[in-house]
Amino acid sequence: MRDRILHFLTERGSLAEPDAIAYLLKQEDPLASVAEVLRSFQEPPFVITLDDIVRAGAIGRAAASRVAKDVTWQPTVPQVGPPTRVEASVPATFRQSGTPATDIAEDLRILKDITGRSTCEGTLGDFSRYFRHRYTTLARIVRSRPEGAGAIEIAHAKRLTREVKVIGIVRDVRATRNGHRLIELEDETDTANVLVLADSSLVSDPIVDDEVIGVVGKGNDRGLIIAKSIIHPDLPTARTFPRTEDRIRVAFMSDIHVGSRSFLADRWVKVRNWIANGDELARSIRYLIVCGDVVDGIGVYPRQDEDLLLDDVYAQYEALASMLGELPDHLRVVLLPGNHDAVRPAEPQPALPVPVQKLFDSNVVFAGNPCTLSVHGVRILGYHGRSMDDFVSALPGMTYGKPLDAMREMLRKRHLAPIYGGKTPIAPEAEDHLIIDAVPDVFVTGHVHAAAIGEYRGVVLVNSSTWQGQTSYQKMHNIEPMPARLPVVDLHTGEAVMKVF
Ligand SMILES: [Fe+2]
Ligand SMILES: [Fe+2]
Repeated sequence: MRDRILHFLTERGSLAEPDAIAYLLKQEDPLASVAEVLRSFQEPPFVITLDDIVRAGAIGRAAASRVAKDVTWQPTVPQVGPPTRVEASVPATFRQSGTPATDIAEDLRILKDITGRSTCEGTLGDFSRYFRHRYTTLARIVRSRPEGAGAIEIAHAKRLTREVKVIGIVRDVRATRNGHRLIELEDETDTANVLVLADSSLVSDPIVDDEVIGVVGKGNDRGLIIAKSIIHPDLPTARTFPRTEDRIRVAFMSDIHVGSRSFLADRWVKVRNWIANGDELARSIRYLIVCGDVVDGIGVYPRQDEDLLLDDVYAQYEALASMLGELPDHLRVVLLPGNHDAVRPAEPQPALPVPVQKLFDSNVVFAGNPCTLSVHGVRILGYHGRSMDDFVSALPGMTYGKPLDAMREMLRKRHLAPIYGGKTPIAPEAEDHLIIDAVPDVFVTGHVHAAAIGEYRGVVLVNSSTWQGQTSYQKMHNIEPMPARLPVVDLHTGEAVMKVF
């Protein structure tokens, strides 16, 4: 039976992990179960995990019993202590100057995401093609910078003992006993060791595995390159915000975690009432972009069921759909998935599956993660932000409380999740969808349950808070969330404000 399952999967372009196969073998009709699992995906993942099967089973079970089900769960019971004071931090000029959302005709397009375009099967060929695409795309960006022009191949540079310039992918970076830094750099021709001396200012430049950098340095007769400067793909220094004609406002949310016991029902009621009946600022919000972890999901981490109020992922999406259904009709909502949602965990993630989409009103648009949107000509890059786990682990000084630091590094590296093989699962698609190819005007992330607005070289940065209180996991790891903040960006000026609920 094991072979029949494997054959069935490979014929359809998928593989499965051993524990997933073991689970399927225990089912009454393993082949029917496999078929059901595959049907539950808009795009089957290239490697099906046990987690995928558990999620697919939950969606199927709930769908079957749905007709008779009345979702009684309502987000009305306060789950935490007294709500945070609503700060009067939004300047009156901002509050009063927005164009009423009801006066603005919709202009929203998804420019880029993976939905319906996944091609990878997880073969060795896929991996080498994926990294070749990463290298060539980012090397081209480095070369296009004035300081990156004239770079030569590593194989050639290693034979020279004068100043050389090379571009490579970082295969390893580590500190030596003397406080120097040794970077193993690889291009399509060879690998070289680059030494960054302890007394150089470059030693504090955050470098991570698998990013693409340029190095200017002096070669020695042992093939070692002593770095004089490091070139990141980075952003052009001068950028102006595209400025829409009207003062169109976009609000951002993420990490609602519907279904969790620590979902902040009282704050949700507050924000919902404000959006529906609030002041001029509320009336000016035309779009709401929700950047992943829209529900808490099931089986995302061990013993999650103890933290769930709704232990059925389908019921979680139904509850979210009814919550969003209470928002005004003129508000267009865009939903991206995150690592808690019912799509493959490997990034790039496609939009939520069609059976889930059908639960929502027609004013909700579904996009993948990451996703590039054009909103009245303003380019918005949305990424849930799972890779921030890897940035925090890899770089001293990075913390969950300061997501903008990691976001600036993503822009400097022109990559949303450069570290391969860490906590962020990455699917080796034909193209590296996590490269920040075109420069966005607004860059938004979630995931870390912090809240921040800022700017980097003309790009508006937003980390969009959470609607979940501190979980037992966060308590254990001393992570203090910043829930119930609603960042709002004006697409005429690029100005960002944060409203607290
Ligand atoms: Fe989250
Ligand atoms: Fe997340």
